[in-house]
Amino acid sequence: MSVPLLDLRAQHATIRDEMVASLMKVVDDQAFILGKPVLELECKVAEISHSKYAVGCASGTDALLIAYRAVGAGPGTEVVTSPFTFFATGGAIHNVGATPVFVDIEPRTFNINPAAAAAAVTSKTKAIVPVDLFGQVAAVEEVAKLAKGIPVIEDAAQSIGARRKIGGEWKMAGEAATIGTFSFFPSKNLGGYGDGGAIVTQDEGLFNEMMRLRTHGSTKTYFHEIVGYNSRLDALQAAVLLAKMPHLAGWSAKRRANAAFYDAAFADVAEVVTPYVEPVSESIFNQYTIRVPRREELRAHLAAKGIGHSVYYPLCLHLQPCFAYLGYKPGQCPEAEKASAEVLSLPIYPELTQGQLDEVVAAVRGFYGK
Ligand SMILES: Cc1ncc(COP(=O)(O)O)c(C=O)c1O
Repeated sequence: MSVPLLDLRAQHATIRDEMVASLMKVVDDQAFILGKPVLELECKVAEISHSKYAVGCASGTDALLIAYRAVGAGPGTEVVTSPFTFFATGGAIHNVGATPVFVDIEPRTFNINPAAAAAAVTSKTKAIVPVDLFGQVAAVEEVAKLAKGIPVIEDAAQSIGARRKIGGEWKMAGEAATIGTFSFFPSKNLGGYGDGGAIVTQDEGLFNEMMRLRTHGSTKTYFHEIVGYNSRLDALQAAVLLAKMPHLAGWSAKRRANAAFYDAAFADVAEVVTPYVEPVSESIFNQYTIRVPRREELRAHLAAKGIGHSVYYPLCLHLQPCFAYLGYKPGQCPEAEKASAEVLSLPIYPELTQGQLDEVVAAVRGFYGK
């Protein structure tokens, strides 16, 4: 039996009727730009992230662009982030004209090292961007404490619905930062039928600025105080996401259950380091990412057995060719570089059957002679 890394059709089969009804409502209303479904989705996103305000936008990448612009990042300024993330986190810094500053990660969580982030702050720093990698909220409160007033933009593209205990209270992904950004890319726990994103904040001024940036920098039709973007969340995508939203908590719980099953199944395999979730954290496991020696050999073994897998991310951002102009050299973010050489993500999606889970476990254990 082959096991894909992700099987969106398996999920679709469970919600097809709800989805068709939700989509047809938009089609029948013929209101495709903003309007009711987008507003409703924004309310739901604000609710799930315990945020006062939410702005729907065209993608998680645009969410970052808009957030960076809103805090004043642009030419002559710097934004500090992790090099162990999807490209968009750093690419959007470049695309607003600011300089990306990459600092190392915590080896166990893969999230930004708060002390390293604080040490990289200069008079030009406009934001620090922790990324909630693989679905675990970063130490946003520590970053904020050390950042001494510099805005913290939480790239929560992979973590909607995840939470972290801060000062004894559960805080949702996006809640504790100055701004939180989400992606609804189809492979996310809450995925659309195409691109989509959202931005949350507790700050009314930032909310107004981000609403303006989303619609060509305009607050009054055909009058533009600044140059913004056309980055609306599509109403059809909002309809998809609204229909999926009631299922999200259950799907993420199933991912956690799958993760617990793998953790136990790999417990006696010394070579496999299973994901570390901080005691103060509840991950949504957008990915289940192990660290292993002989990774490329294991990949070949899994491929031969039809087990889906992927490496997120094989080359850190500070070493990407497009950022050569920044002058980073190998060895400057050693933990991130080590992680990129050792990580491997396994199938974790909620619809995995017990038979499929067993298959994945047997293939990995078999490779290490268990
Ligand atoms: C950490 C991170 N940041 C940003 C993005 C960009 O989101 P999108 O693909 O919706 O533009 C993604 C997702 O792909 C991501 O995983």
